[in-house]
This record gives sequence, C-alpha cells and structure tokens, in this order.
Amino acid sequence: MHALGIDIGGTGMKAAPVDLDTGKFLADRIKIATPQPAAPGAVAGVVEKLVQAFYWSGPIGVTFPGVVIDGVTRTAANLDKGWIGLDARSLLAKAAGQEVRLLNDADAAGVAEMTFGAGSGEPGTVLMVTLGTGIGSALFVNGILVPNTEFGHLEIRGKDAEQRASERAKTLHDMHWKQWAKNVNEYLEHVEALLSPQLIIIGGGISRQSDKFIPLFTGLNAKVVPAAMHNDAGITGAAMASHPGSAAPARAGAGRNANPSPAHTLGASGADGTQGDQGLPGFPDPGLPE
Ligand code: BGC
Repeated sequence: MHALGIDIGGTGMKAAPVDLDTGKFLADRIKIATPQPAAPGAVAGVVEKLVQAFYWSGPIGVTFPGVVIDGVTRTAANLDKGWIGLDARSLLAKAAGQEVRLLNDADAAGVAEMTFGAGSGEPGTVLMVTLGTGIGSALFVNGILVPNTEFGHLEIRGKDAEQRASERAKTLHDMHWKQWAKNVNEYLEHVEALLSPQLIIIGGGISRQSDKFIPLFTGLNAKVVPAAMHNDAGITGAAMASHPGSAAPARAGAGRNANPSPAHTLGASGADGTQGDQGLPGFPDPGLPE
C-alpha cells in the first residue's frame, strides 16, 4: 500500500510518497517553505503544488501543527489564526483534488515512530516530543495514541515551554547546546513528573544532532532516545493516517491485543475510539493493561 504524506510545519511543508508496509519513502521528499503569513489559502496552495509535484492520485494524509478534531483545526500556535475553527480538511481536500485525512503533526510522527521507529513494540507509557518551530507531543499507552495532547504549551518559569525549549527558541535566542539542553531537560523533568513515561522519544529535525544534547540530560527516570526517522516521521505518519488500520502495529505493546487486523480493530464494538479525523484505526477496547 502506498500513500502520499504531507507534513505542514510552521517553517516548512514537506511531502513524500510512502510505502505503508515499511514506512519508507518511495521517492525523495519535496520541501517548500511555509508561506508567511501562513494563512489557510496560501498553505492550501502549497498542498496543491506538492500533490501535483508527485503527479499523485491515491490516498493522502496531511498533518497540521495544531489540534485537529473532525477535520476542524482548533488551534494554530505557529500559523495564521485564520485556521482556528476552520474546516481545514475540506479546504485541503479541495486543494488536493480528492479526500484527505488530517491529524496533528506530533501525533503523526508518534504513530510512525511507534510502528517503525524508536517506540516499536514498546509497552506502557511512551511520550514523543517533537522539537521544531513549536513543541509537539504524542502520548501512547500500551501502543494506543491519546490524540491531540498539547504538552508543548505547559508553562515553565512563567513561559510557554516551546518558547524556551523548541528548536526555534534555540536559534532565536542563539543558545549554545548546553544552555538549550538545560531548558529541554527542565521541560522533560516537568513532563515526567506529570506523566511518568518510561520512554521519551525526541523528534524534530534537531534530533539528528541528539548526541549534542541527550547525553547532557540529568535527573530523568525515563529512557530518552532520538526518533529513528527524525523529521521524516511526520510524513510517514501522515501517509499512514490516510489508510485506517495501517497504524495498527502502533499497538505492538498492547499485550494480547497486539497487531489486531484492521477488520478486527474496526469491527469488535463498532466504536470509533479516536477523536476526530485521526485516520487511525478505531480502537474497540480501551487498551488497559492486562
Ligand atoms: C502546537 C502543536 C504542534 C506543535 C509542533 C505546537 O505549537 O500547538 O499542536 O504539534 O506545535 O508543531
């Protein structure tokens, strides 16, 4: 199964066709700068270009850097405020010339990492944190995503965490690795105190340079690892979302119910356990630890 993944970021918009069995790209990704201001119409125009650049016809999944419920974008911390309350799924479907699935960018990256990357097969509580223009979060309990968590906006020292610990904050304030790592460390300690994850996966482009900051972390009980797919995880997760059921292996840590077939996943109770248009499988059971 193949699908096109489009990752809308505050700084760049990236796309690639993805093989959903491996999570790997079928062609080099294309990146276009996010229009500034990142108003809905302008961003939709870039989505149209990305679809055309691959001559794509087939399933499409799109990520958005904000809360997405039922295809409606509810927040837009790093994009134009015109997105708030917008039926973004319809707008982007028009631009793409076909239906699209829409989900939060960190959720998409997390699902990809839980399926093909650093969280594969990991049970218990896993937190993915993406450090980029903002800070994104994806929380998994026994492989099941809790969608639309916004832990990047926790307040630390009177400021939104992403203003101190995102990659953009590092660049903006010209922070050295040591200084920035201290901010990220403090942020992760805060998150750890609230959620007690046993694994924290650090994503975003800066995770390629994880050797410069992860070894500087102290005082954390969780294991901290870089994302295996780095900044490409969002594209893979977007593509996976276009096929309900393709994210089933994200449940790899879910004990007896690991890797349910999509039919089983969708059929057991008829419940669509995800919120909004995640494009992820409906989860018939709450995934409680057995
Ligand atoms: C947004 C999140 C998003 C993150 C990374 C934050 O500002 O609120 O929804 O996942 O940035 O893009």
